[in-house]
Amino acid sequence: MAIRLGDVAPDFTAMTTQGTVSFHEWKGNGWAILFSHPKDFTPVCTTELGAVAALKPEFDRRNTKVIGLSVDPVESHHRWEGDIKEVTSHAVNFPMIADPDRKVADLYDMIHPNASDTMTVRSVFIIGPDHKIKLTLTYPASTGRSFQEVLRVLDSLQLTAGYSVATPADWKQGEDVIIVTSVSDADAKVKFPKGFVAKKPYLRVTPPPDR
Ligand code: BEZ
Repeated sequence: MAIRLGDVAPDFTAMTTQGTVSFHEWKGNGWAILFSHPKDFTPVCTTELGAVAALKPEFDRRNTKVIGLSVDPVESHHRWEGDIKEVTSHAVNFPMIADPDRKVADLYDMIHPNASDTMTVRSVFIIGPDHKIKLTLTYPASTGRSFQEVLRVLDSLQLTAGYSVATPADWKQGEDVIIVTSVSDADAKVKFPKGFVAKKPYLRVTPPPDR
């Protein structure tokens, strides 16, 4: 069954390039990003894994663990890691799940049979400290993902989890945010001491409250 926002992320135990992982235990009370890619030794995936490895310090700074998945076995992942380092100059610094029996892929609905019977699509799940799904993304095999965008969404999710705000189109960390409509003007004056501008009664912007 499809995974929806707000669902508890299914737990699993799987072999990875960094040993056996029990997902909820491995994730702990922090955030996690679980992402799948179609197959080892494929060109777009090679660039994606290098991009995630380069961003790992940013994910660490956000108390967020990353874990990749493909349906190939762990020995194949290890051999491929050499190519990824060679081509992208970034060593893979996070675990990659080996899922040859598609146990995890099925749990997370990562196989889309009308796209491919055998390969996982490019799925991304962001999972919060409460183990609940905060974001799902599905890209086709032909399109590499923007992991800067994944990081941007993570920033929004972490900010909006702590404050009564939402983030506008193309928002980036440090930019003004929107006060959610359930907060009255009177309460907004207390909650957002830096003040706010009401462009419309329902569109009130305020400087980032976490800085
Ligand atoms: C790729 O990563 O380049 C790729 C993987 C599966 C199908 C098509 C492209």
